[in-house]
Amino acid sequence: MRVDIVSIFPEYLAPLQLSLIGKARGAGLLDIRVHDLRAFATDRHRTVDDTPFGGGPGMVMSAQTWGSALDAVAPPGGPQPRLVLPTPSGRPFTQSLAEELAAEPWLVLACGRYEGIDARVPEEMATRMPVDEVSIGDYVVNGGEVAALVIVEAVARLVPGVVGNAESLVEESHAGGLLEAPGYTKPAEWRGRRVPEVLLSGHHAAVDRWRRDESLRRTARRRPDLLRRLPAQSLDAHDLAVLAEEGWAPGSDGRFSPLDPGVAD
Ligand code: 6GU
Repeated sequence: MRVDIVSIFPEYLAPLQLSLIGKARGAGLLDIRVHDLRAFATDRHRTVDDTPFGGGPGMVMSAQTWGSALDAVAPPGGPQPRLVLPTPSGRPFTQSLAEELAAEPWLVLACGRYEGIDARVPEEMATRMPVDEVSIGDYVVNGGEVAALVIVEAVARLVPGVVGNAESLVEESHAGGLLEAPGYTKPAEWRGRRVPEVLLSGHHAAVDRWRRDESLRRTARRRPDLLRRLPAQSLDAHDLAVLAEEGWAPGSDGRFSPLDPGVAD
């Protein structure tokens, strides 16, 4: 997979040389190219932004600079990438979108700063390539670079060969719509705290059942939003009993909602 990242802070993307992603680049699985947006500015001060039409605080990155940069990275008339614009006003970046992006041969990430990029840029680019404006969560970070790191890491680890153990990809949090169970390693007792005994039992079926129970309990307590999206048909009788203990039951629509304690109780 090829990934081009355009930013006014190319050094911000240095972590992509490390760890799993760095190794995958070395192995030829990922072709990551970082570009300096300022190289496409035309004035003496290499200006990339201007004041917003209609007034208001901050600066907006100019369509001209971004147009030139994106034309240079993906020349019109040639093969086209999928363009990703990290922005707090984008649609949520999810594991499912990461899976979709991992199936693409070529991604371009356009990192905005200040109050964002002139809105005509995604409009214009959408005439020749798929464009996604995406947010990494309901909080604000200063620029798209940190979001680009999150997106590239989430996508790259799904590219075949980047993560060694394919099993670790299917077992992990979010893969099945549930949070992962807690993990433990040696020693079996630390500061008086024992590892759950079942994990030392060697009884694989019991370990699997315990992990599933913990996943269900964690999801109910920490991510009720995920539980509401879980189809009840995907659960067995034991799962339903665990969730009932946590105060959740499926309705006639097969969706989970809280079992309110009766007001008269
Ligand atoms: Cl993609 N960018 C910025 N600047 N802030 C964010 C974000 C992206 N997603 C959430 N907050």
